[in-house]
Amino acid sequence: MKRIITFGTFDLFHVGHANLFERAAAMGDTLIVGVSTDDLNADKKGRTPIYSFADRVKIISSLRYVDLCFAEESLEKKSEYLRHYQADILVMGDDWKGRFDHLKDICDVVYLERTPSVSTTEIIEVITSK
Ligand code: CTP
Repeated sequence: MKRIITFGTFDLFHVGHANLFERAAAMGDTLIVGVSTDDLNADKKGRTPIYSFADRVKIISSLRYVDLCFAEESLEKKSEYLRHYQADILVMGDDWKGRFDHLKDICDVVYLERTPSVSTTEIIEVITSK
C-alpha cells in the first residue's frame, strides 16, 4: 500500500489542482492532502484565502482522488507530517522544484509539471479587473 502526500492552499479550486490530485492519486493507493490553514497562507502568500479553511477542506474532501485531509499549520512541520502519515511519496507541483529535496531521507519526493495557464492568483486578478 503506497501512501502519497501533498500540500497546498487550493483556494478557488481549479483544474490545475484537480490535475495534480488525479496524477498524485494514480501514483499510489492513498492520497493524503495537507491543506494550509488561513494563517499559514497569510504568512506564505501575504493574503487571506478567499475560501475559508473549512470550505477548502470540505471541497477537497469531497473529491474522489482524495482519501484524507488535515490542517497544515506550518511549513516547518513537513517532516513531522510525513512521518505521522507514513508517506511513501511527497508530490508537489514543479513551482516547488528542489524546495523539498532535504526530505528525501524520509520519503521519495516528486515534482509534477504544473498545469499551464491557471492559478488562483490569476483567477483573482481576472475577477477583480472586471
Ligand atoms: N498546481 C498545479 N498547476 C497549477 C496550479 C497549481 O499543479 N496550474 C499545484 C501547485 O504546484 C501545488 C498545488 O497545486 O503543488 C497547490 O497549489 P496552490 O498554491 O494552492 O495553487 P496556485 O493556483 O498555484 O495558487 P497561487 O496562485 O495562490 O500561488
